[in-house]
Amino acid sequence: MFSDFPHLIDLNDYPVTWWNGLLDLGEKILQNPALYANSCKGKLMGTLFYEPSTRTQMSFQTAMLRLGGTVIGFDNPSTSSVAKGENLKDTTKIVSGYADVIVIRHPTVGSAKAAALTADCPVINAGDGGHLHPTQTLTDLLTLKVEKKTLSGLTIGLCGDLYNGRTVHSLCKAMSCYPDNHFIMISTKELRMPSYIKDFIRANGGTFEEVKSLEDAIPKLDVLYMTRIQKERFASEEEYLAQKDTYILTPKKMQLAKQDMIVMHPLPRVDEIAVAVDDDPRAMYFKQAKYGMYIRMALILTMLQSTARTELLVGEVRPGVACPNTKCITCAEAYLPKSFMGKGSTLTCEYCDQRVLLAHE
Ligand code: CP
Repeated sequence: MFSDFPHLIDLNDYPVTWWNGLLDLGEKILQNPALYANSCKGKLMGTLFYEPSTRTQMSFQTAMLRLGGTVIGFDNPSTSSVAKGENLKDTTKIVSGYADVIVIRHPTVGSAKAAALTADCPVINAGDGGHLHPTQTLTDLLTLKVEKKTLSGLTIGLCGDLYNGRTVHSLCKAMSCYPDNHFIMISTKELRMPSYIKDFIRANGGTFEEVKSLEDAIPKLDVLYMTRIQKERFASEEEYLAQKDTYILTPKKMQLAKQDMIVMHPLPRVDEIAVAVDDDPRAMYFKQAKYGMYIRMALILTMLQSTARTELLVGEVRPGVACPNTKCITCAEAYLPKSFMGKGSTLTCEYCDQRVLLAHE
């Protein structure tokens, strides 16, 4: 199923050359933002934030304003007609008639793809549940490019909630497309990286190991990517409390790290990085958030200039087969075609990447 517009749902829908072009443009904007002050004059961005956000929402808004464009939208669905029961399809259809580009954050996995199916303008995924966060990854890539001067040959430690953390999912998918990167996944067994991400890394020739100890891993790292335990994605308070405070980066642990290791974090931080680490010159997370504004300027500009069409669904609807993932958008919005990739008895939901095993095939 094709859309007449370019969309950014998953960074891996685009080739690495496209990412590199964006990163080059992001660096140019970073060096001379004034040069781009009128690049989107007359253009309007719609921001649909069904979930809380500080950085993503405000950096997108600032990016558009700094490009000379304007912004409409909501940051709390309860102040929109979503509160009256309007579905995602209708909200997207209406706002895409007002705006030139839509940025959407939603708690349900696959929601950005679902929105793109109906939108009459480009849609940018600003985070769909615990699934993907491609513009955070662009932010992370620009941070690595500027601060480490390379996107290859890095040992990257990922620490914390690797199961629910959409930022680390997108980052692994992206960095495994550059040569010789090695991932050290530091988590409890309950919060390990999902299998589909590990499969993706293997398929792209990347390497990884899974460990429990941050102290043991930290001396080996070029980059330490800390993540928050995602309280809002746990089934119960009890399960969250069992994971909370497992990993806390402190100045003492930083003493074990290389002098040129950098610490990244998509933020918000809760308590997984002690505030005392902020003064360490290797702490990059506040700078990282600012790089996010420049790369989003590059992205908005690129999307608005593109005339590309996007193939959104490549699989097929299988009679009687539904996605078993209760967090998938196809469970919440019944009108969506339940499309699956794959043949035989193993299918993959095209919205949430959940594997579906068929009993009789
Ligand atoms: N990194 C990130 O997505 O932050 P926000 O939730 O504040 O947008």
